[in-house]
Amino acid sequence: MSKVQLTPQTLLIPLPAVMVSCQAEGYKPNIITISWIGIVNSEPPMLSISIQPKRYSYEIIKKSGQFVVNLTSEHNLQAADFCGNRSGRDYDKFKELKLTPIKAKMVSAPLIKECPINLECITRQSLLLGSHEMFIAEIAAVHINGELVDENERPNIDMLKPLVYCTGAREYRGGLIKLLGRYGQAAGK
Ligand SMILES: Cc1cc2nc3c(=O)[nH]c(=O)nc-3n(C[C@H](O)[C@H](O)[C@H](O)COP(=O)(O)O)c2cc1C
Repeated sequence: MSKVQLTPQTLLIPLPAVMVSCQAEGYKPNIITISWIGIVNSEPPMLSISIQPKRYSYEIIKKSGQFVVNLTSEHNLQAADFCGNRSGRDYDKFKELKLTPIKAKMVSAPLIKECPINLECITRQSLLLGSHEMFIAEIAAVHINGELVDENERPNIDMLKPLVYCTGAREYRGGLIKLLGRYGQAAGK
């Protein structure tokens, strides 16, 4: 099959579609949907999110230096899409979507109860790259719904039913539940 060359673009598929909650003095708590996210370090655990400076959430995260990455399941689809298409300048997204804020342990931003996994993050560095500013943050606390995890802290992916976003196609997808293998199997581990 022949290859077709496309224009340079961010065609990394699939990506998570997470709901990032944030709060700062003088602002109401807000939620922004983010797909430009990645793990960037293991010890300490760190991730990055990239946000356009015109977003309402950008002002809040720039000011507070803190946020919560709330991972999504298939059942969070409508809320994730709303938070990714409406601004906190015009809506109180917690109220509008009847989402439940829970006080976090380490940061000012609330966790979203309806999301299965919540990562409390504290910004360590930020880099303005062009269209987006990348916030590199330490994961300071992690929460997961009790029924989704075993005694070895291993999450149950079949029950988690992660929601993903496919750039290019602009589609949300789920059903990533088919187990195909285990880490290291090709290396005989
Ligand atoms: C699936 C999806 C992924 C998105 N990813 C990002 C992202 O990584 N960075 C960003 O700045 N905006 C992203 N957006 C757009 C923002 O979520 C959107 O502009 C939102 O309304 C901003 O809300 P705010 O003004 O309350 O901060 C995404 C939207 C969707 C639907």
